[in-house]
Amino acid sequence: MTKQVIVSGMRPTGKLHLGHYLGVIQNWVELQHKYDSYFFVADWHALTTKYDKTDELKQDVLEVAMDWLASGIDPEIATIYVQSHIPEIAELNIYLGMATPQNWVERDPTLKDMAKILRTKEGQNSQISYGLMGYPVLMSADIMMMNADAVPVGNDQVAHIEITRDIARRFNNIYNTEFFKEPKPLLNKCSLICGLDGNKMGKSFHNDIKISDTAEDTAKKIMTAITDRSRMRKTDLGHPDECEVAFKYWQIFGSEQELETIRPECEKGERGCADCKRQLGCKINERLKEIRERRSYYETHPDEVKDILSQGDKKARARASEIISQVRDIVRMY
Ligand code: TRP
Ligand code: SF4
Repeated sequence: MTKQVIVSGMRPTGKLHLGHYLGVIQNWVELQHKYDSYFFVADWHALTTKYDKTDELKQDVLEVAMDWLASGIDPEIATIYVQSHIPEIAELNIYLGMATPQNWVERDPTLKDMAKILRTKEGQNSQISYGLMGYPVLMSADIMMMNADAVPVGNDQVAHIEITRDIARRFNNIYNTEFFKEPKPLLNKCSLICGLDGNKMGKSFHNDIKISDTAEDTAKKIMTAITDRSRMRKTDLGHPDECEVAFKYWQIFGSEQELETIRPECEKGERGCADCKRQLGCKINERLKEIRERRSYYETHPDEVKDILSQGDKKARARASEIISQVRDIVRMY
């Protein structure tokens, strides 16, 4: 039996953090064995909000690819590629755009949020561009380009996948075909990790731990993680469930056994927060050790990374060009 196809992408926001790793990439690493997997760097999508800040775009694409490879995405198994290297996606985007009612994109809740953020910014970039309005259509083109069965994403992207399903159905209806599948969201079973300050982890909030951070930096950052705010001294009785960040990280990185010791020790005032976080830092560094070793290998071999991406581009284009020629037939282009 041929494997089902999955497609997913990530915008090149630079070096990725643990939120990306635990929330998305780790999931891909598992899925790549079960599905025919296409993972791409969504550099066109980066332009929807940062078309005027492209100085680091090229490097950011490489950073994302290195983080994926370091995390265990295997280019022998999965196809990893760069969105803008697949011109067929742009062509499909045109066909899908024609068939998408304007109010479908206007309704998109994620787009509404992005627009709100943009509006609070000064300068020319505070305008919502035509390209940004097309975000969900372009995303549909990414997915339908491979005629995917499913799309592994986080909760925040589900609304987009719903639009993709709607667009696929509408396209099929208009052209009286069953060509496109209606791709299903494959929800990441993820441990949502908060930032060091207890808010959502994000690069712009300066509360993140990067996959590529050194062990020393990680240890230092962990020491700033929020704990039980009511606790002043080691002997104060602690409340792990109100330990806003450190204990939550323990729940992600610690073993059952470790949690069984930490909880009572904290509650009885036998465990200092500084020591607790020192141990936690070691724990996280242990978990990331291999990934970071692989990452430094790729950092010193950028040509290998570029090579892997261009191999992936080729594989992705092979499938894309087959599909686009069928789409051209279906639409009855000359
Ligand atoms: N919108 C996604 C994000 O911000 C990135 C993305 C672009 C994507 N195209 C996609 C994800 C297609 C899944 C499928 O993370
Ligand atoms: Fe949190 Fe550990 Fe401090 Fe308890 S001892 S409050 S679990 S950091």
